[in-house]
Amino acid sequence: MSQLLEKIDKNALPDHIAIIMDGNGRWAKEKGEDRLFGHYHGVESVRNIVEGCAELGVRYLTLYAFSTENWDRPENEVNGLMELLVSTIRKEVETLNKNNIRLHVIGDMNMLPAFAKTELTEALDITKVNTGLNLIMAISYSGRWELVDAAQKIAIEVKEGRLNVDEINQDKLQQFLCTNTFPDPELMIRTSGEFRISNFLLYQLAYTELYFTNVRWPDFKKENLYEAILDFQARERRFGKTGEQLSKTNNV
Ligand code: IPE
Ligand code: IPE
Ligand code: MG
Repeated sequence: MSQLLEKIDKNALPDHIAIIMDGNGRWAKEKGEDRLFGHYHGVESVRNIVEGCAELGVRYLTLYAFSTENWDRPENEVNGLMELLVSTIRKEVETLNKNNIRLHVIGDMNMLPAFAKTELTEALDITKVNTGLNLIMAISYSGRWELVDAAQKIAIEVKEGRLNVDEINQDKLQQFLCTNTFPDPELMIRTSGEFRISNFLLYQLAYTELYFTNVRWPDFKKENLYEAILDFQARERRFGKTGEQLSKTNNV
């Protein structure tokens, strides 16, 4: 067994890990290849990390696969990514099922081409009874899109008399986010050396521990995941309180 894996405290795992899978394009360019070559290799890392999380017993894994801003990339890259996404899901759905993994999708599904919508809906249906790892793919997703979408839905509820304005609190708002059935991530990892959120789970990351690594996504494998989890386990999460307050409650 890997030495890093042995060091992980299995009783203090993050329940929900979110990852900005970044650096496919640069990884490919560094090898003199086309950007899409990087995305193909990125799929290998997805497999590896999904397996790693399932083995550990992590309950939720959110992967940022395509942002609403990524629609503005060159047409051949967007098309290539959509095709890769659909063919990967088609290939992997059986394995997901075998491993009791439930697939979820968050994002603006209206933006997706019809063939992608059909394939995703089928995969969601096939895996919906699974009770192991929840694999949440963020596709055509952005935090700002999600917040606007929630605001519109809340406005309709108010307009149609089903909701009073003074009933709108944090819990209520959360019910209108597309992540409403998932806990907030405890750990957010971004690969490839960029220190930004790029419109990922803006609301949900309020108290998430952030971990940045220079490793490009196609090179990010289980050992790198273990490293991130160990780093997370060495942190003190204070949620606005003082360190002293926390050590008092820990001693009780
Ligand atoms: C992440 O890799 C995958 C997607 C955004 C779809 P990039 O494609 O952003 O790769 P870099 O950041 O340009 O290297
Ligand atoms: C963020 O990566 C989106 C995904 C990984 C899907 P980008 O590569 O699109 O982010 P920026 O443009 O570098 O901020
Ligand atoms: Mg990028």
